[in-house]
Amino acid sequence: MKKHIVVLAIIALLFSMFQVPTVAAKPQSDTIHTGSPFDNKIIKRFDSKRAMQHISYLSEDIGPRVTGTDQEKEAARYIQQQMERYGYDVSTQEFDIANRMQGQLVTSMDDNELAIRIATGSSSTTEEGVSGAIYHAGLGEPGDFSEEVVGNIALIQRGGFSFWEKVEHATEAGAAGVIIYDNADGLVPPTPSLGDNTASIPVVAITQADGAALLEEIEGSEITATIKISEITNQKSQNVIAVKKPKGKPSENHDIVYVTAHYDSVPYAPGANDNASGTSVVLELARIMKGYPTDKEVRFVFFGAEEIGLVGSRYYVSQLSDNELARSTANFNLDMVGTNWEEATAMFVNVVDGAPNLVWQSASDAAERLGNDSLILFERGASDHVAFYEAGIDAANFIRREPETAALEPWYHTPFDTIDKISQDRIQEAGELIGSAIYDFVRKETPRGKKGQGVNKMIGNYLLNEEPVRNR
Ligand code: BES
Ligand code: ZN
Repeated sequence: MKKHIVVLAIIALLFSMFQVPTVAAKPQSDTIHTGSPFDNKIIKRFDSKRAMQHISYLSEDIGPRVTGTDQEKEAARYIQQQMERYGYDVSTQEFDIANRMQGQLVTSMDDNELAIRIATGSSSTTEEGVSGAIYHAGLGEPGDFSEEVVGNIALIQRGGFSFWEKVEHATEAGAAGVIIYDNADGLVPPTPSLGDNTASIPVVAITQADGAALLEEIEGSEITATIKISEITNQKSQNVIAVKKPKGKPSENHDIVYVTAHYDSVPYAPGANDNASGTSVVLELARIMKGYPTDKEVRFVFFGAEEIGLVGSRYYVSQLSDNELARSTANFNLDMVGTNWEEATAMFVNVVDGAPNLVWQSASDAAERLGNDSLILFERGASDHVAFYEAGIDAANFIRREPETAALEPWYHTPFDTIDKISQDRIQEAGELIGSAIYDFVRKETPRGKKGQGVNKMIGNYLLNEEPVRNR
């Protein structure tokens, strides 16, 4: 008996000597890690710290990545380099984008360049632009203009009647250019539309706050403004593509699954959430999945030119052969998955027709395995999944929103979409959940044509109030 105790004590001692203290290797999300062994192959390796580094590089080192600019190209190069480091053969696919107007408004007030939106229907200027003293013309009624405005820049408040009428009155009075300032508080300037009319002078809009600052300055002294507007032609954007072939399948008859995110942003927006967040999670999933055999082909595609109307994804899909299209089963599109906005407690699975499909099915199955109840199926386009849907492929966009009204964070599409408003925990949660869904979907073969069933939660289609082009 005594001997037994001694032996047990020695075993216990030896055992304790080889015990390694447990150290948290990376921040964990609130997700309950009850996934299957195959989920854990993603969950254990998804490293939101690496994802945050991608977001930092894209949104801070590069900054706004406006379609067609050098910054957009730099982002494409960065993504390509990362994917090559993970061992992928990467190709880029270049395509033309429509001409666009580009502009600048500089005032003599501290040589300040203001954030502007160019009115649709504005004229362009010479390279030097048009310059003149800023003349306050109230709402822009005909009686608001005096001789002084001739050859100068009319500063006009939004409201009362249409943008076009304001521009007409300013032009008749002899103004050389028009600045319209907003009549309500907003983080970005409005986008004025002149309808079907074309102005003979440049017309730009600024925020209410910038308008108020200018008004205050011109009270005391003369302030001049220079407006430059030019059309940029022959610009290109690009998609970045890496293909992971399935194991032992030389037949070219396997299913294809697309894991996608756009990396461009709107002007002035660093695009940390829209959409360095989705880009970073796709990069991290590509890194993890590189070494895992799958039965389906996985294509990681990073799109340019999403923000000017889904141009990159539509181009990509248009270049697929009939054979590729026939083998294409699903698109998991990640766009805005990391906001730290407190209200955005739900992960929306946006599908174009509102109906459950294979992507929703796979995501809701994964959510159930992981004990995550934040998913909502929702009818919405407005991101790159639309291009796949239009080609008959089951597609969904993962996007964090407020669950009751489907609102996005208030700083969406503004200069305030910065990395300090990204939650590393939510990036981790998105990676674990969407990664588990994707991996479960691609690791095994599924019979062709089997559509998803079993909706957990479905809510109606909301009419969202999102900054359209306005005429007044
Ligand atoms: N990241 C957004 C995604 C989105 C989806 C926003 C649904 C709002 C609703 C995307 O980049 C975006 O801004 N989309 C545009 C439309 C697109 C066709 C240019 C939008 O919703 O204004
Ligand atoms: Zn986006």
